[in-house]
Amino acid sequence: MYLDHHATTPVDKRVLEAMLPYFTECFGNAASRSHQYGWTAEAAVARARQQVADLLGADEREIIFTSGATESNNLAILGSARMLKDKGRHIVTSAIEHKAVLDSCHALEAEGFDVTYLMPDKYGRTSVESVASALRPDTILVSIMAAHHEVGTLNPVTEIGALCKAKKVVFHTDAVQAAGKIPIDVEAMQVDLLTISAHKMYGPKGVGALYVRRRAPRIRLAPLIHGGGQERGMRSGTLNVPGIVGIGAACELSQSLMMEEMPRIRALRDALWEYLSANLSHIVLNGHPTDRLAGNLNVSFSFVEGESLMMGIKELAVSSGSACTSASLEPSYVLKNMGVGDDLAHTSIRFGLGRGTTREEIEKAGHLVVEAVERLRELSPLYEMVQEGVDLSQVAWSGH
Ligand SMILES: Cc1ncc(COP(=O)(O)O)c(C=O)c1O
Repeated sequence: MYLDHHATTPVDKRVLEAMLPYFTECFGNAASRSHQYGWTAEAAVARARQQVADLLGADEREIIFTSGATESNNLAILGSARMLKDKGRHIVTSAIEHKAVLDSCHALEAEGFDVTYLMPDKYGRTSVESVASALRPDTILVSIMAAHHEVGTLNPVTEIGALCKAKKVVFHTDAVQAAGKIPIDVEAMQVDLLTISAHKMYGPKGVGALYVRRRAPRIRLAPLIHGGGQERGMRSGTLNVPGIVGIGAACELSQSLMMEEMPRIRALRDALWEYLSANLSHIVLNGHPTDRLAGNLNVSFSFVEGESLMMGIKELAVSSGSACTSASLEPSYVLKNMGVGDDLAHTSIRFGLGRGTTREEIEKAGHLVVEAVERLRELSPLYEMVQEGVDLSQVAWSGH
């Protein structure tokens, strides 16, 4: 059972249908100006550009197609910072952004930029006040994500956008997890650069987009990929026409389904949380209790190791907060930077519900998780001590 929709989503059949002709009959190069094959491809790209722009409240000329959100984030951050380096060299982001943002910032540090990594609050939220207090006269860019990929928390993007606008600082937001799930309007949010990815919204992998503001102010980016000058010179390379048709169709579909899809998914997510909290003690919800993505549930199960729990619920495709990034099982940098202790960070599971998730699946998932947690806790001496009324925080552990 697939409950990992933050990692990726299946391609919606309607999106696939839209894409298929562009692999075979309509295979032209969108840059070929001299024949029908090229014109057909170009028209398909133009339509997709409009569909993406419509989801974001943007103008179609403000959409740049890329190979995915990793590239969009790199282009937004490296491209704008390099363009503005004579104006200032200070960047503000948060310590729990996706690696594509954090590592782009690290790359800029190596080029002599100075980056402030803001610590979020305990819910994983970066407040407008903390951004304001980090701004300096030499700040040129703020990058704060719209919705978090692990804990689902929504950031006050509109407030941060207004602040950046007032301070004349470029504002980028990684909206990969938010796009198609919460309404986005680049004008209301006063965003200058915004990243999306098709495969997180029932489109194909390997295609994304970057919104680049054209007016008030016009944002200029130094390209990362040089060549034929496609995408207004900001991203050269022959356009991935089927992929672009896919992201356009995915945007249109998400936009038309959002209002009915999200309440349904939210109700299922709430039902799962209610079942787990009614049947298990010592569990903690990670992320914001209400300001969060409808499909996200991130839970720490005390006295159970996340990796063991995943092994115990093999039928469920979920993610654990302790990624095997090194030989030791390091807990997620996200939970750590939110102030979650190592013990709880190690026991976290991220459930990601999506378009295909059914009530039957959620009921089954609830049973499986409760059963596995109970089984594992029976093996835990710490849990036994707690059951006997021992307060673990008061225990003086002896070193031998
Ligand atoms: C918030 C966020 N940003 C960026 C990415 C990278 O997206 P892509 O796989 O399209 O490069 C992801 C996906 O892992 C994500 O969740």
